[in-house]
Amino acid sequence: MTTILAIESSCDETAAAILRDGRELLANVVASQIELHKEYGGVFPEMASRQHIVAITPVVRQALEQAALDWSDIDAIAAVHGPGLAGSLLVGLNAAKALAYARGLPLVGVNHLEAHIYANWLPTADRDAPTSTPPFPQVCLIVSGGHTDLVLVRDHHDYVRLGGTVDDAAGEAFDKVARLLGLGYPGGPVIQKTAESGDDSAFRFPRALRVGDYDFSFSGLKTAVLRVVQEQQRQEGHAIAKEQKLSHAAIDADSSDLSIPDLAASFQAAVVDALVAKTVAAAEDFGAATVLLAGGVAANTRLRQEIVKALPVPVRMPPIRYCTDNAGMVAVAGHYRYLSGLRSGLDLDVVPNLKLVPDTP
Ligand code: KG4
Ligand code: ZN
Repeated sequence: MTTILAIESSCDETAAAILRDGRELLANVVASQIELHKEYGGVFPEMASRQHIVAITPVVRQALEQAALDWSDIDAIAAVHGPGLAGSLLVGLNAAKALAYARGLPLVGVNHLEAHIYANWLPTADRDAPTSTPPFPQVCLIVSGGHTDLVLVRDHHDYVRLGGTVDDAAGEAFDKVARLLGLGYPGGPVIQKTAESGDDSAFRFPRALRVGDYDFSFSGLKTAVLRVVQEQQRQEGHAIAKEQKLSHAAIDADSSDLSIPDLAASFQAAVVDALVAKTVAAAEDFGAATVLLAGGVAANTRLRQEIVKALPVPVRMPPIRYCTDNAGMVAVAGHYRYLSGLRSGLDLDVVPNLKLVPDTP
């Protein structure tokens, strides 16, 4: 029996989880800072790391209590060491190192992106153990606030990066457009909700399918939404600065004639179309036996539905609650690293731009 305690603190969630034998999630505690960052319209790094310091000890203690275990039951400690915000990563990793040293336990460093992929191995609500490994080769679409990557997973820990965004990450595009539409933060869930009452063909936004075969580009789409908003503001007689930037433009939803639900639905459709088209191409070209979704944007209902419709092979996606940052996914990734004999030294450092696949020189 192997029991892993995992810690995640790469962005604005302080999280700890306990996983037995790679399939029994005994505890999964997430202390979210969303309320704290809302008024800034995004994550405020300095505040995030301070809040992690406040939260980390209670969160780890709560995980042990929830699992009804004590330290003698834990076999290893897994912790994310990148990518993410340096100050945030430092808090979780240093806590993990201190605990590993004090308790004489092995430390397993985990890449945050790999953890998102392994969220697909977590138990779902209706089945206790779906955690049989989906057949390889897998094509995985990682879509989060900071990353949008298409990855070929040939085996455990054997990745080939096929492509990714050349500008904004998909989640970042959701967050920026939500701000522009005056919908708040985080953008993904609120755009999805607003889009429910909108017409997704009201605006024909660009899909940017012409960038590299498995690459994405979302900045043109973001600018197209901005142009619609600017044009509306002009017609309504609002003064617009000559070089108005996305970060400074925000529609006044109450006084505008623009349909925010139509804009949200049309934007969401454009993002999903691009994500699905490139994933389907990669799955065909590389003979994927399974397609995986991973990352916060994988919580998007339209993406989940469209990708299943478009692919002839089985698609695995984490239960929605495990798509956004949590330590359960870190525990599964840590479990498979631990099983493979992979261990980290206590000199393990944070790497804010850690890659899943190292760049070839
Ligand atoms: O994976 P995650 O929790 O953090 C990072 O590692 O970045 O992803 C957060 C991102 C945010 O940009 C958020 O707007 C987006 O995931 N997101 C969604 C949805 N839920 C979260 N995007 C689209 N639709 C959703 N339902
Ligand atoms: Zn994440």
